Amino acid sequence: MGGPTGEGKTSVTCLLTGGAGYIGGHVARRLQRAGHEVVILDDLSTGLPARVAGLPLIEASLVTDPDRLRQALTEHAVHGIVHLAAKKAVPESVERPLYYYEQNVQGTIALLQAAAKADVRWTLYSSSAAVYGSTGDGLVDEDHPTAPTSPYGETKLAAEWLVRRNAEAQGTAWASLRYFNVAGAADAILADRGVFNLLPIVLRALDRGEDIEVFGGDWPTPDGSCVRDYVHVEDLAEAHLTAVHALEDGRLAAGIFNVGRGEGVSVLAMLAAVERAVGSPVPYRIVARRPGDPASVVADAARIQRELGWRAHRDLADIVHSAWQAWAQPA
Ligand code: WQD
Repeated sequence: MGGPTGEGKTSVTCLLTGGAGYIGGHVARRLQRAGHEVVILDDLSTGLPARVAGLPLIEASLVTDPDRLRQALTEHAVHGIVHLAAKKAVPESVERPLYYYEQNVQGTIALLQAAAKADVRWTLYSSSAAVYGSTGDGLVDEDHPTAPTSPYGETKLAAEWLVRRNAEAQGTAWASLRYFNVAGAADAILADRGVFNLLPIVLRALDRGEDIEVFGGDWPTPDGSCVRDYVHVEDLAEAHLTAVHALEDGRLAAGIFNVGRGEGVSVLAMLAAVERAVGSPVPYRIVARRPGDPASVVADAARIQRELGWRAHRDLADIVHSAWQAWAQPA
C-alpha cells in the first residue's frame, strides 16, 4: 500500500482484469488519476494496449494462464481486484454458450482461486443489467427478480454468485456493479472499437451512408421503439472509483448496485440525439424485432446514490457528443 493520493485517500494497488478493454481503459485511467497503482491483466482478445500505455500490462487469459495470474497478484502486492474481463456479445453467447461459461464463469473461478492464495482484500465485479432479463416498463431496482434470457446474462449472474460466496467464505469484501447501457468515450484512444451496440452501430452506418435498422417500431413504449438506460462510460468509471474507496475504507463490505441514469431513452430518441450532435439527418428504417430484446430496461439507481454517494453527471447529449468526437478521430 502506498502513501496518500492526490484526492486524500491512501493509494492502493488494484488489479484490473480486462483492463485494456473499452470500459477497463476508462476505469484504469480514473483510478490512476486518483493516485492508485493499477496493474492490467488482459488476454488482448479485444483489449488494446494503447488504452493502458504506461501501466504494467500482463497479457494472460484467466482460463489458460493461471501461473501468470498468480504471478501478477503476488509480484504487485495486489490489494483489490476489479474484475472486468468477460465476453459480452449476447448473440455470440447464444451460439457459443460453453465458450461463454468457460470464459466468464470458469475465468472468474480461476481468478478467485488465485486471489485466495494472495493477500487480496476486496473484489469489485463488473456485472450487467442483462442479469434481470425481461423487465416491465418500470424502473428496475436491485431487488428485481434476476431471470437472464441469454447465456451471457446467465454467466454474469453466476459470476456474481461466485464473487459473493467466495468473499463470504474468505472474509473479504465484495461488490457487484450492474451496468446498464454504457456509451460515450473520454477520447479516441479509449473509445469503444467493437461495433456491437447501438451508438457505435449508428456512427458506423452514418460513415457508410447506410440506413439504421430500428429493431421494432411496435413495442409497448411511448414511440414504439425499445427503451434503454444509457450511462456515460466516464460516469461509470467514477462509480468504480467510488466503490473502490468504499471497499478500501471498510465502508462497504458487501453490495450490489445498479449503475445507470434512471432515464429511459428510446432508439428513436437516440437517433434524434445523434442527429442533433452531428448536425445531419440519421436515416433509418423500422425492421423486425430482435429476438430476446426486452421492451424497456431502465435503472432505479437510488441505492448507489444513497449508499455510496454516486450518481451520473453526464446526460444523453454528453454521451452522444463524446462518442461521435471519439469515433471521428483516428485512434
Ligand atoms: C440497444 C437498443 C436494440 C442495434 C446489450 C447487452 C447488455 C449490455 C449492453 C453488456 C436495443 C436497439 C440496436 C441496432 C437497434 N452489454 N438496436 N438497432 O441489447 O440493450 O444490451 O448491450 O453488459 O448486457 O444485452 O444493447 O446496444 O445491442 O441495443 O434498434 O442496429 O438498440 O433493440 O433496444 P442491449 P444494444
